[in-house]
Amino acid sequence: MRLILVGPPGAGKGTQATNIIEKYGIPHISTGNILRDHIRRKTPLGEIADGYISKGQLVPDDLVLALVTERLKLDDCKHGFLLDGFPRTVVQAEALDQYLHELGCQINSLVNIVVPDDVLVHRISERRTCLDCNASFHLLYKQPKKPGFCDLCGGELIQRSDDNEKAVSKRLEVFHHNTAPVIEFYRKQGLALDVDGTQTIDKVTTSIEVALNRVVE
Ligand code: AP5
Ligand code: MG
Repeated sequence: MRLILVGPPGAGKGTQATNIIEKYGIPHISTGNILRDHIRRKTPLGEIADGYISKGQLVPDDLVLALVTERLKLDDCKHGFLLDGFPRTVVQAEALDQYLHELGCQINSLVNIVVPDDVLVHRISERRTCLDCNASFHLLYKQPKKPGFCDLCGGELIQRSDDNEKAVSKRLEVFHHNTAPVIEFYRKQGLALDVDGTQTIDKVTTSIEVALNRVVE
């Protein structure tokens, strides 16, 4: 299954990705997580990406496309993948479609988690993210068992550098301006599935499962 998970910042992409990848046995490819890993390791790409991410701006298409196409070449993507946070521009979507076309395949579906902006701001301000495995927690809706530490790997929970008011407001603007057209790009191909992301975490999971059960591999 070749899937795209899209939605505004804080919609629950990372939270829902865990269940989807387990169900289909596919790797989770989050461009945000990969870029943050480069920043932590202080690689040349990380140094460039940091300047954009901390301001809530998109990293340039050519850098992200190089990173994703390298990742898609790995063996674990042979039978599918879940892309989280990519493609984020129509240029990225067209390049992805072209890349898959050359391999004789295509995206099976795009899952669009729909959440209004006011809900997103509250979610992000109370989010805590694992420094080691990137798992997301919430001080109210998904509390870690041991405060300050990840349930999955025991890593330290932190606030992301782009989870401040100024960067979040820019990320929302960028989503509406650059990424909403990507959803329409796939809707025109009959591949977009909208899911109500304002429900509880478990109910969103069920809605995604129901929607994906209708998708033919
Ligand atoms: P990225 O890491 O992709 O961030 P994002 O899209 O802004 O999304 P988030 O990770 O903030 O939110 P999420 O939807 O994963 O929500 P989560 O599950 O954590 O990208 C970061 C940056 O990297 C970009 O701004 C850009 O600079 C760069 N970048 C990445 N990809 C790029 C690309 N393709 N091109 C160019 N640049 C790129 O949940 C949020 C919170 O809500 C958590 O606390 C969670 O516990 C809680 N929660 C989740 N679901 C629910 C629910 N149903 N009810 C209540 N609480 C919930
Ligand atoms: Mg995320």
